[in-house]
Amino acid sequence: MAETEALPKLREDFRMQNKSVFILGASGETGRVLLKEILEQSLFSKVTLIGRRKLTFDEDAYKNVNQEVVDFEKLDDYASAFQGHDVGFCCLGTTRKKAGAGEVEARVEELQFDRYSVFRPGVLLCDRQESRPGEWLVRKFFGSLPESWASGHSVPVTTVVRAMLNNAVNPSGKKKELLDNNAIHGLGRADSSLTP
Ligand SMILES: NC(=O)c1ccc[n+]([C@@H]2O[C@H](COP(=O)([O-])OP(=O)(O)OC[C@H]3O[C@@H](n4cnc5c(N)ncnc54)[C@H](OP(=O)(O)O)[C@@H]3O)[C@@H](O)[C@H]2O)c1
Repeated sequence: MAETEALPKLREDFRMQNKSVFILGASGETGRVLLKEILEQSLFSKVTLIGRRKLTFDEDAYKNVNQEVVDFEKLDDYASAFQGHDVGFCCLGTTRKKAGAGEVEARVEELQFDRYSVFRPGVLLCDRQESRPGEWLVRKFFGSLPESWASGHSVPVTTVVRAMLNNAVNPSGKKKELLDNNAIHGLGRADSSLTP
């Protein structure tokens, strides 16, 4: 049987390393929930948002969050915003048609990170702040399906975010990991132990 590590211990070990993190797309649905969870779990000693506009937060929990505003059309001019972080999460909104999923992943590979993970969720289930009637209809549809079928094709954003964080705190010898919707469900639901 594969060896498992207790998640609370992994989180504690991770916290002790005082790592810094940047988040791209923190104004979007996934990024917003990810930021909230990162602050709640106190996983990083420094949190920086990189986006095309400054965000406003009222809650006290966000008071130490740093922000860098960059022009995504001229990223070479903003290289310093991306330097000096231990971990980065990209939650930028795009569509497969616009970006080409394979193309994005190939470009990420070229960057030669020590380690990176690609999350490929099904339909994201969330209470989106912004109104998107098409997505609302799709979510209603999935909400009406039997749980076992719906979970094969969709996933709550909170589960995706927990999977991203559980993956980050778990040391891995693998340089690259691909997580499909099923793997995201499994990892995001884990609350006691993980397989490295
Ligand atoms: N929704 C789904 O069911 C689903 C399913 C599978 C995969 N995904 C993928 O998961 C990712 C996140 O989805 P999401 O629903 O959380 O996204 P979202 O709510 O649409 O958030 C989009 C984020 O990306 C930023 N952004 C978009 N275009 C940008 C640009 N040209 N330059 C700079 N920033 C830009 C937005 O910033 P502003 O606030 O400034 O606009 C926002 O922070 C997307 O790549 C999506 O394709 C989504």
